[in-house]
Amino acid sequence: MAYRVIQWGTGNVGKHALRHIVERPDFELVGLRVYNPDKVGKDAGDVLGVRSTGIIATDDRDEILSLEADCVSYNPLGGTLEAGETALDDICALLASGKNVVSSAVEQMAYLLPDLALAGVGDRAYDRLSEACDQGQTTFFHVGINPGYTMDFWPLQLSRLSRRIDRIYVAEILSMADYPSEHMMRDAMGFARPPAPDNPVDAWMSRTHDTPFYLCMRMIADSLGVELDDVRYGGREVALAEKPFEIAIGTVEVGTVAAMKFHLEGIVKGRVAIHLEWVWRLTDDVAHDWPKGEGLWILDIAGDPHIKSKIQTATTFDSRRPVSLLVSTTCLNAIPTVCSAKPGLLNNLRLPAHGGGYLCSPASA
Ligand SMILES: NC(=O)c1ccc[n+]([C@@H]2O[C@H](COP(=O)([O-])OP(=O)(O)OC[C@H]3O[C@@H](n4cnc5c(N)ncnc54)[C@H](OP(=O)(O)O)[C@@H]3O)[C@@H](O)[C@H]2O)c1
Repeated sequence: MAYRVIQWGTGNVGKHALRHIVERPDFELVGLRVYNPDKVGKDAGDVLGVRSTGIIATDDRDEILSLEADCVSYNPLGGTLEAGETALDDICALLASGKNVVSSAVEQMAYLLPDLALAGVGDRAYDRLSEACDQGQTTFFHVGINPGYTMDFWPLQLSRLSRRIDRIYVAEILSMADYPSEHMMRDAMGFARPPAPDNPVDAWMSRTHDTPFYLCMRMIADSLGVELDDVRYGGREVALAEKPFEIAIGTVEVGTVAAMKFHLEGIVKGRVAIHLEWVWRLTDDVAHDWPKGEGLWILDIAGDPHIKSKIQTATTFDSRRPVSLLVSTTCLNAIPTVCSAKPGLLNNLRLPAHGGGYLCSPASA
């Protein structure tokens, strides 16, 4: 029997998720929640540009709540809006109505504990979600690629091979050149702007305990049974464009930010034990001594044995940025496990091991 799945949100992540649900033999799409008025009333197949599905997109939350479904794939905007309250309300209502939920929408929910409530997670999030799971006898799992996999779950999985660990280093290398959001690119990340001492990345990363990446540090430390003395922001370095070039949001002028690198340090017993680094680029033509690539994560666990690993991803779909696809697959591949789990809140430390993807015939690939 197929899992009956509702898709909530059809942005970069949600569209990948919708396609996955429609294609996958053991999933059945039973509902679609959208916000954009242009999408309301359209068949899910039209939203994707594929064959009709018979499922019509709606912006009516109550209509979605009244549907019979095994799970909701919840990928709208979340933690960035109204301190996460709307998303928290939605997720609690879905859970209480008897539907399991897998979500990427509130990154602050990537690791929920009674004593760990980041700004933006929503008021009394842990208690409210637990009560809703109890009421609906349902399960909630929040995940993503980072936080959710590459800087928390992946290193802790490979640490199972370790005897002694001296330091865990993970770097994320992403190209932002095809990212179409003007607001995210210029205002939130400070790309294609002259470098400024009061830049947005320094502003949000220096509130280390409120960034979702603090959760990566905590999950690694908790899984290794150690306490973090502190988590420190190491500051941002930038590389500037030496000649003008085009990206999705327009021209990057000479002297504006074309690449950036920043990191967080997790301090355990007085020394840096966990080093998480981000290298985000608009081009590989600058900062030649920084790692280059796209959809690339590098892991180095110094100790005995010394473990090195790499995740290199690519996709031909949409803007060809793998990140959004990976966020959707971390959610959807968990659905069978989430649906058979005991009611309550799951995280990567508590979710039973599972695989992902579906095998298809070469003709349908
Ligand atoms: N942990 C990770 O690694 C990770 C990485 C990337 C993204 N994320 C999270 O995943 C979520 C989706 O990201 P994305 O890249 O798909 O975003 P996006 O492309 O900007 O998509 C925006 C989504 O939000 C919906 N939306 C529009 N107005 C809204 C409103 N007022 N309230 C709530 N939602 C609204 C859109 O509706 P329509 O369906 O009508 O277009 C669309 O589904 C975000 O919350 C993001 O933070 C997590």
